Amino acid sequence: MIEIRPIHEHESPAFLNLLCTVFELDNGRAGTVFYSEPFFDIRRKWALFLDGQMASILTTTPLQFGFGKAIGIAGVGTLIEHRGKGLGQKLLEVVLEEADKNREGAAILFAHNEVLYQRCGFTTLDEVIKGNINAPCALPHEPALPLAQVQEKYADWAKSHPMRLHRDDRRWKYWNFVFRECYSAPGGYIASETTICREALVTDQPAKWPLLNNAEWYGLRSMTQMLGVPLINEQHHLLLMGRNFPDVPQIFMSDQF
Ligand SMILES: CC(C)(COP(=O)(O)OP(=O)(O)OC[C@H]1O[C@@H](n2cnc3c(N)ncnc32)[C@H](O)[C@@H]1OP(=O)(O)O)[C@@H](O)C(=O)NCCC(=O)NCCS
Repeated sequence: MIEIRPIHEHESPAFLNLLCTVFELDNGRAGTVFYSEPFFDIRRKWALFLDGQMASILTTTPLQFGFGKAIGIAGVGTLIEHRGKGLGQKLLEVVLEEADKNREGAAILFAHNEVLYQRCGFTTLDEVIKGNINAPCALPHEPALPLAQVQEKYADWAKSHPMRLHRDDRRWKYWNFVFRECYSAPGGYIASETTICREALVTDQPAKWPLLNNAEWYGLRSMTQMLGVPLINEQHHLLLMGRNFPDVPQIFMSDQF
């Protein structure tokens, strides 16, 4: 017998165990993040139970775009012994149906492989690329921008196009979950994680990127082009797939769910 529903509080450890088994994560370290991340919401941790045993899982995250609401889907996993029986697809279908009912019908996810998601109505919208930045990079001596200024600049950017992701307090908390400092750049700012940059709100090229030498950019191809991020090389990393999305979303990888 198959049952599909959000998990109950007491089922969190089993959910975490399954997540760690499928994605080969260290249970202790994953557990700290799992329970403390700002989007942790038991009602958004879905599981498929096969004869009472948790076999397949996924997590949804609420997203607010200019055009309306959507969900991000992540951590889709089925226990190895139950793969290929249609369980992942069944779970996704139920979650998408529920999202439709709650008027959160649009969905996006990052994937390495399209097969399962195409069967559930997703199409490939874009790809995530990684590459070394083709510009001088140096960690700055100047002070970082205060968060309030970063938030203001981001909000101005976000409201000027319907496909841009809006950030409320909880999303900013999530954003702050990873330590990054933002430095002023032409037309906005660049968020620095020393060896990687997942967010650069710029209208012109900065003289120096606030990163270590050989640092990498990680972003959607469309955003990379729109912002004019200069890359020496690029590697394909992930696909961005969407269902009922009116256009390609404009999101930074710092919002990856
Ligand atoms: C992806 C995964 C959740 C599918 O679960 P499942 O219960 O076997 O799914 P279904 O039986 O409904 O569908 C199976 C189809 O998924 C496809 N698939 C396998 N791995 C996939 C992946 N990583 N992403 C998308 N589709 C995948 C297969 O091609 C298969 O189709 P086929 O039987 O025609 O070859 C499962 O393979 C898994 O847990 N993989 C490891 C974790 C993972 O990579 N998750 C995806 C993160 S983006």
